[in-house]
Amino acid sequence: MVVSAHPLATSAGVQVLRDGGNAVDAAIATGFALAVTYPAAGNIGGGGFLVAVMKDGRTTAFDFRETAPAAAHARMFLDSAGAYAEDRHHEGWTSVGVPGTVAGFFAAHAKLGRLPMRRLIDPAIGLASKGITVSWALYDDFVELDDEFLRHPGTAAAFRKKGKEPYQPGDLWKQPDLAATLRRIRDKGEAGFYRGTTARRLAEAMRANGGLITEEDLAAYRAKERPVLRGSYRGAEIVTMPPPSSGGITLITMLNILEGYDLASAGWHSAGHLHLLAESMRRAYADRARHLGDPEANPGMPVDLLVSKEHAARLRGGIDPARASRSDPVRFNDPPESVETTHYCVVDAEGNAVVVTYTLEDSYGSKIVAPGTGFLLNNEMGDFNPVPGRTDTTGLIGTPPNLVAPGRRMLSSMTPTILLRDGAPWLLIGSPGGRTIITTVLQVVVNMVDFRMDLAEAIAAPRIHHQWLPDVLRIEKYGVPPETAERLASFGHRVTFRGSSREQGRAMGIVIDPATAIRQGVADPRQPEGSAAGY
Ligand code: GLY
Repeated sequence: MVVSAHPLATSAGVQVLRDGGNAVDAAIATGFALAVTYPAAGNIGGGGFLVAVMKDGRTTAFDFRETAPAAAHARMFLDSAGAYAEDRHHEGWTSVGVPGTVAGFFAAHAKLGRLPMRRLIDPAIGLASKGITVSWALYDDFVELDDEFLRHPGTAAAFRKKGKEPYQPGDLWKQPDLAATLRRIRDKGEAGFYRGTTARRLAEAMRANGGLITEEDLAAYRAKERPVLRGSYRGAEIVTMPPPSSGGITLITMLNILEGYDLASAGWHSAGHLHLLAESMRRAYADRARHLGDPEANPGMPVDLLVSKEHAARLRGGIDPARASRSDPVRFNDPPESVETTHYCVVDAEGNAVVVTYTLEDSYGSKIVAPGTGFLLNNEMGDFNPVPGRTDTTGLIGTPPNLVAPGRRMLSSMTPTILLRDGAPWLLIGSPGGRTIITTVLQVVVNMVDFRMDLAEAIAAPRIHHQWLPDVLRIEKYGVPPETAERLASFGHRVTFRGSSREQGRAMGIVIDPATAIRQGVADPRQPEGSAAGY
């Protein structure tokens, strides 16, 4: 079973499974295919995380988060007068981190893959060179972003017909430069991306446009294998991503807090249920802002403490069941974060389970394609804290754990997660959505464990989000009836509703029936072309 944001990428993964590949092989093939078919977030110019639980009991995680280039420094997002320059942080050439996806896929393949890597890249090459049909979803994106595509010649060449006019729905969209880049990866391995033609073109474009990434930065990039982070929730074991993602720690903290309540008897989406969710979120996100960043740069990060049941019990002790707490003002706040990223899941016939969340940060990342390379570059530097020492109500955070430094990985919220029952994978889950990723995953888990929903219901159900600061409880449109919103307000929550086009997350999941091993794959109905397929 494969579940991803695009049917052609899902098919690429399923075909690899049919051909005898394992879940890791299928995840890599799906990831390369998404880089062609789902340019909003599928990528080779970004980064992400892969978590695997293998049938033989091995668990592992691959961290291919982008890194800050060697010339980066903590004050790089300030202008000459020392004022915060948001555009340098979130847009343009200085917002690009050294891409990690290709190295991550090679690292996971070297450790756990079965089929030759070329078999896993070939489907993506076929999709890029033969072309795919421009769907309405793709067309909508292209129309919205056309002005940005025009700003960069490499992007216009990749995303406009012959570089000149916008594609229309039904057009065949070929990506010859991307196909050539993928062929170099297939033929030369990682070096086909991090050295040679691709690296040179990327570094030249950086030099010409005031970007920082050099050929040396690319050659120095390494993906890291990390031990998974573990927790438990009402008898289910949680296997998830450690730092530099904040996702795993924050998810486990929230679940640990909620374990102390009988949520089921509060009633699904009652004010009582939503209040306890919000108060757990508030506390876990305060920890996130205070403590989390790149683990190598922050060796003292109290990970064990943050995921302990004792810590959760202390936090729970501060929750009033009928009164909202106030988030401690402004001392710790978070930078704005994009809602684009993508998650996908694979389970193979043997029962190996793999979850991947990867991203370009914003939808279509920096919108920059270096001429002749065909792939979009991320704007992940925007996930670093922008101004050292400055934390304020506008959303700036200046705390040290997540400041820019050469080679450092920026803090992420991506939460690729596998829940186990009796030692075997039961639920594979994850989502895009910036900081809402973690609360989206939380609610799917709670819906299934506490409220016994099936996966389709658990994913489709409306969601809420609180992230400590700003001190606002955000609810999806039509997510609760007016009387529940009024009751939450009477508890002291500042309730706001997302607009109808601003849904929370696009979760992708697979659930495996422990009795029959039957798999149910669910793509979030919020994802325009999400798909689940098995064989
Ligand atoms: N850029 C989204 C994340 O890493 O959480």
